Amino acid sequence: MPLKSFPIDWVINKAATPGAGYGAAERAVLDEEGFERAWNTVTRWPGYKPTPLVSLPGLARAAGIGELRYKDEGGRFGLGSFKALGGAYAVYRLLARLGTPAKDVTVASATDGNHGRSVAWGARTFGCRSVIYIHATVSEARRAAIASYDAEVVRTPGTYDDSVRICAEDAAKNGWHVVSDTSYEGYREIPCDVMQGYAVLAEEIVREMREPPTHVFLQGGVGGLAAAVVSRFWQAWGARRPHTVVVEPVRADCLFQSAKSGTPTKATGDLDTLMAGLACGEVSLAAWDILKKGAAAFMIVPDDAAIEAMRIVASGADGDKRIVGGESGVGGLAGLLAASVNEKARADLALTRDSRALVIGSEGDTDAELYKKLVGRSGDEIRAA
Ligand SMILES: Cc1ncc(COP(=O)(O)O)c(C=O)c1O
Repeated sequence: MPLKSFPIDWVINKAATPGAGYGAAERAVLDEEGFERAWNTVTRWPGYKPTPLVSLPGLARAAGIGELRYKDEGGRFGLGSFKALGGAYAVYRLLARLGTPAKDVTVASATDGNHGRSVAWGARTFGCRSVIYIHATVSEARRAAIASYDAEVVRTPGTYDDSVRICAEDAAKNGWHVVSDTSYEGYREIPCDVMQGYAVLAEEIVREMREPPTHVFLQGGVGGLAAAVVSRFWQAWGARRPHTVVVEPVRADCLFQSAKSGTPTKATGDLDTLMAGLACGEVSLAAWDILKKGAAAFMIVPDDAAIEAMRIVASGADGDKRIVGGESGVGGLAGLLAASVNEKARADLALTRDSRALVIGSEGDTDAELYKKLVGRSGDEIRAA
């Protein structure tokens, strides 16, 4: 099956330290003790089970690499994305730290969909109230999904970054606790709890794979998912950890721009991407502290590359299992496939016929209507086939 080529760009991270161990600077952001606590908590929640790590040999052949594994987060706790692990865990930790009765606590969060769903679910599960802020272009389906967990949902004008600001202002006025997945100046503890929750999925991979993959392609919004995965792989595998490529939409390229300038830098694009979960204009400072040395390269891909990747996994290349991967969920895979048919990218990223690549399918059809429009069939039809 021939793969299409797309206009992509990438930057090799000159500050990367591939041979170095997990150091004090990284430990100050995400330490092993914090990870153990997250693992021991989340894996005891009712309904916990590791998500599938699917082998896609047909697609690996098409991409001219040795092996491809797809960690399918679509079924995570019935919430449709890996985000179920993070926001809910941060709510749990916050309530434990506060020590006040949960019913007297309100948590607030800005979201492009998936994080808010996790916070709302965590709040309902642990008995506190939640107010979730969504920006202008978050779909009605995503709003309804959040509201279904008894959250009060507030729609704000502007972008995701505007909703983050408005949420912070309202929370300060009302004495609510912001549970954000992005960290900024003076706000680190909760986003680090969120990332420790995400690291659970990386640990499942560590436990399942006999040998570390050579490459992992991770989609980035603010960088939390990528940092959590890099961190856990670094802790577990040390210098044998995979070469990490962080992939973003062309129009929401804050991590790519930060890598280029060597310091947190805003996105140059207008954030207008259908990869809603990745439409972020600024990096999470705590995540950046891991990625600035932990990621080998940063890449940008157009939306069309993600749509193509959604269709490919939905039809199952060359006899592969069919997978329902949402717009943001296939970002890393889109980057890998586009790089695999680009000679210069292959050389720069050291992709060869022997490479064993891993991607995290970070969501299923979290926006079922959009999914059907882009793929031509509904997620339910594909799962039933
Ligand atoms: C499905 C999905 N994948 C990936 C990401 C990116 O995560 P982060 O913003 O932590 O980089 C998000 C963020 O919302 C998401 O919803």
